[in-house]
Amino acid sequence: MLSHFFLLHSSGARFKNRGFMIPFRIKVVEPIRFLSLKEREQKIGDAGLNVFRLKSSDVTIDLLTDSGTSAMSNAQWAAMMIGDEAYAGSTSFFKLEKTVQELMGLPFVIPTHQGRAAEQLLDFTLVKPGQMVPGNTHFDTTKAHIEFRGGRCVDCTIKEGKTPEGEHPFKGNLDIQTLETCLKKEGSEKIAYVLITMTCNSNGGQPVSLENIAAVAALCKKFKVKLFLDAARFAENAYFIQQREKGFYEKSIGEIVQRMFSFADGCTMSAKKDGLVPIGGFLALRDKILFETMKPHDILFEGFYTYGGMSGMDMEAMAQGLKEVIQKDYLEHRVGQVAYLGRRLKKGGVPVVEPFGGHAIFIDGREFYKNVPKDQFPAQLACVEIYKEGGVRGVEVGACLAGRDPDTGKNIMPALDLCRLAIPRRVYTQEHFDYVAEIVLGAHEKGKGRKTGLKFDQETPQGIRHFTSTFKYV
Ligand SMILES: Cc1ncc(COP(=O)(O)O)c(C=O)c1O
Repeated sequence: MLSHFFLLHSSGARFKNRGFMIPFRIKVVEPIRFLSLKEREQKIGDAGLNVFRLKSSDVTIDLLTDSGTSAMSNAQWAAMMIGDEAYAGSTSFFKLEKTVQELMGLPFVIPTHQGRAAEQLLDFTLVKPGQMVPGNTHFDTTKAHIEFRGGRCVDCTIKEGKTPEGEHPFKGNLDIQTLETCLKKEGSEKIAYVLITMTCNSNGGQPVSLENIAAVAALCKKFKVKLFLDAARFAENAYFIQQREKGFYEKSIGEIVQRMFSFADGCTMSAKKDGLVPIGGFLALRDKILFETMKPHDILFEGFYTYGGMSGMDMEAMAQGLKEVIQKDYLEHRVGQVAYLGRRLKKGGVPVVEPFGGHAIFIDGREFYKNVPKDQFPAQLACVEIYKEGGVRGVEVGACLAGRDPDTGKNIMPALDLCRLAIPRRVYTQEHFDYVAEIVLGAHEKGKGRKTGLKFDQETPQGIRHFTSTFKYV
């Protein structure tokens, strides 16, 4: 299955061996700043060896996140001009609602200012203390919201999804046996809902197959529990299904998206990813009663339920973005661009997670620094050293992000300790990725003999520690 995928890409519909021609022209530019090595060392030192604490003006190529960093199209900017800023009943909301209904087939849409606000709404309503939410490697804000309500996450990702090697085409899949055992053991009262994150950010942007979504849905039906999708990267997931799953190559992305959502009771959406906007999100539901239950909570925390923390302009841009993101030439270029960087790094000997995901290249920190002990944050060290080498900012998705077990207080040691280079949508060109590859290769070469890593200087005591903690060299 996978070799079919690679064959398609390497034969190149547009350029032999060079990825894909950009399916847009550039109309607005933003200058990039280059700092000297001495300045970069100073800046990252002042930031406590935590890339989140850097100023963006001190970054040359910013691969911290693909969230809210997309370039908008001329059609999105034009749509913003007709944004309706009415407090209640905004026409921009109804446009957004119709777009979501047509795209995902979910009838009830609650706008929120971003993805985690949709998670907050969902978990406030569905999660009770002691309940479980089984899923595939929950994203950090997702996990934090579930735990904040007294719930617990159960990771049911397939074993192939927990290793950086191997050519499994759908490493985001849930292990059906593990899920069934969990549902049987806990019983439906102890399960708040089941969550599928597609693509799965925390294990390398890996996709989930339609076959797997259907199998999970069948189990949910059997045990009478609800199934939700974390839809932040739904279009990239659909593209992988089209390219890798038997029987879908002739189907349009729109058709595949319809099929994916047809199995779910609802979804949370961070539109900062596959909505192609700087801010925005929503919760979409199939059940009217649940929808009516959640509305007052939206009003309390986000704003009236026809804007939910967004301006009319934001909703217009999102409605247009949701239409653009399922276009095949866009997705082909987007996923091709990520793979281009992945191939360049792999060729230079950098250990990267394979197959390449949809939104980012993930460097295996433990292999990048083979001799640095696991508990000295090798992936965090890679982020710091790559920034020092050339002002490229990635982010750790590993032992620091995993945090501490809420019950024992012990550091969690995740299966993978990764440095993520997330690619903003429609922002950088191939030349930028050639530069990034050179910088990462340089940092890799320099770090070969390294034996020590990092330790906390000041660890943020609660919740999501990776954003604010500071580090020291061991
Ligand atoms: C898979 C996934 N779910 C949820 C979120 C949270 O979305 P937001 O940042 O819009 O709150 C993110 C953000 O990166 C994500 O990657």
